[in-house]
Amino acid sequence: MGNVFVLDHPLIQHKLTYIRDKNTGTKEFRELVDEVAMLMAFEITRNLPLQDETIETPIKESETKVLAGKKIGLIPILRAGLGMVDGMLKLIPAAKVGHVGLYRDPETLKPVEYYIKLPSDISERKLIVIDPMLATGGSANDAIQSLKNRGAKDIRLMCLVAAPEGVEVIKEAHPDVDIYLAALDEKLDEKGYIVPGLGDAGDRLFGTK
Ligand code: PRP
Ligand code: URA
Repeated sequence: MGNVFVLDHPLIQHKLTYIRDKNTGTKEFRELVDEVAMLMAFEITRNLPLQDETIETPIKESETKVLAGKKIGLIPILRAGLGMVDGMLKLIPAAKVGHVGLYRDPETLKPVEYYIKLPSDISERKLIVIDPMLATGGSANDAIQSLKNRGAKDIRLMCLVAAPEGVEVIKEAHPDVDIYLAALDEKLDEKGYIVPGLGDAGDRLFGTK
């Protein structure tokens, strides 16, 4: 079964409070999401494997470490996932970025895929699917399945805020996928919004309504 990690670093928790606050405007919301994404990238990459590398410092030859093995791919779910890409790229600048376009039908709450463009070698990469919100889990579930259908083998999911319902959907459908969150909230409301959540992440990031 996939593991669920709530990243409780004080800086992440502090910034998340202001992301949640309804009085936080678009500019500040965007900046905070970017900062939290960078901090989460630090935590999610904590167990990446290392390999030995020999270099020469100005003083002597030295055995040091560099990242080993598979390369990383970031897969934001459009639109709101875009808000977390730049923050992650600050720490993982060589990552390739694929996009999955999904929106949630407001009536059925079911995800509708409208776009997908991925690096050609996704089967050789460690993929991090990024979306601020994991609500019913439908969007992340579809995105992960789309990646698997195209050969992806190593996937983790990173979200700011999740509802328990969404976490259960992913654990059930994709037991091989670890989930990284800044917060696990109480529940979904009758419209499928996370409670207490932060509202509509895409609208708050892009200033739409
Ligand atoms: C939001 C959010 C997730 C999805 C989560 O996107 O960014 O992708 O809802 O809900 P779910 O877990 O119930 O599927 P939305 O459909 O509002 O599209 P947007 O990012 O274009 O605003
Ligand atoms: N999508 C959002 O943007 N917010 C929610 O609370 C649920 C789904």
